[in-house]
Amino acid sequence: MDPLTNPSPRYCSLRLNRLGENSVSGRRTRGPGGTEALRLGTGAGVNAEPPRDALGGGADGIGSAIVGNFARQGSKVAFVDINAAYARATIERCIADGVAHTPIFYEVDLRDIGALQVACTRAIDDLGGVTVLVNNAAFQEHAESIEDITEEQFRRTFETNIFGYFHMAQAALPHLREGSSIINTGSIVGIVGNKILIDYTASKGAIHAFTKSLALSLGERGIRVNCVVPGPVWTPNIPGTMPMSEIEKFGHEVALKRPGQPDELAPAYVLLASDDGSFMTGSLVEVTGGKLG
Ligand SMILES: NC(=O)c1ccc[n+]([C@@H]2O[C@H](COP(=O)([O-])OP(=O)(O)OC[C@H]3O[C@@H](n4cnc5c(N)ncnc54)[C@H](O)[C@@H]3O)[C@@H](O)[C@H]2O)c1
Repeated sequence: MDPLTNPSPRYCSLRLNRLGENSVSGRRTRGPGGTEALRLGTGAGVNAEPPRDALGGGADGIGSAIVGNFARQGSKVAFVDINAAYARATIERCIADGVAHTPIFYEVDLRDIGALQVACTRAIDDLGGVTVLVNNAAFQEHAESIEDITEEQFRRTFETNIFGYFHMAQAALPHLREGSSIINTGSIVGIVGNKILIDYTASKGAIHAFTKSLALSLGERGIRVNCVVPGPVWTPNIPGTMPMSEIEKFGHEVALKRPGQPDELAPAYVLLASDDGSFMTGSLVEVTGGKLG
């Protein structure tokens, strides 16, 4: 049975259009307020309540692996994404894994600030609070030269990659408390550059600087801000957006001589979300297989 149309679905699909109107299809049957004494990672002490995580761009690739990993560790997870079909597959995998709390999904284009704010508020309400915000969504398109990058592509790259992260952080911040954390997703090419991803690499460099500045700003409140910096990771995004010449050699330049898999990235997010990462803030955590420049 299709969980999107199932009369008693395990998650809520909130569709928001560009005007911020919304229609809710489905009804979540597993509410927040579970009593499991679980937490992310292996730090000493036990939470009375499971962590509550909100994630931007969780339907596909690395985001899907993060949703699955957090959910399997007992977290309540809500995620937003533009792609409902991939979100459905992510949730079905979590259900098959027997997770304690089925992730909640909201179909939202993060470039729509009004819709993003409504979804964020709804997600935090449905979760009963939020302790971790993960920003993962991205748009990338290759171009041989800066002359080939249209104004539309340039805007879409920045509106998705850095505006989206900024507005998600603004929306979640009033609900974050001491011990909470924000985890952004950068890229090694935001450090070393890439001649066919000029706009994308610039947006990733902005995410790295945003992470460091926000960490400095929120440190006094006990809120940590970090950034996972992936190297080449084999996700549907790669064959979908890169030229064949790049796909054939993708990942072979790193020390380990292969691209990473999404599941090899997720543990870095778990560490940064957990109390095991309690002295980590402002960090750019490279998970690259040894791509050093
Ligand atoms: N795959 C890699 O090699 C690689 C390398 C370095 C960094 N990264 C970063 O890792 C993160 C995940 O990458 P991935 O390869 O899994 O990509 P992906 O395209 O598979 O995942 C990105 C997700 O963002 C969503 N998204 C895109 N635009 C959106 C929008 N406007 N509103 C809401 N959701 C939107 C997509 O639907 C998708 O689920 C990205 O931030 C990417 O920049 C990936």
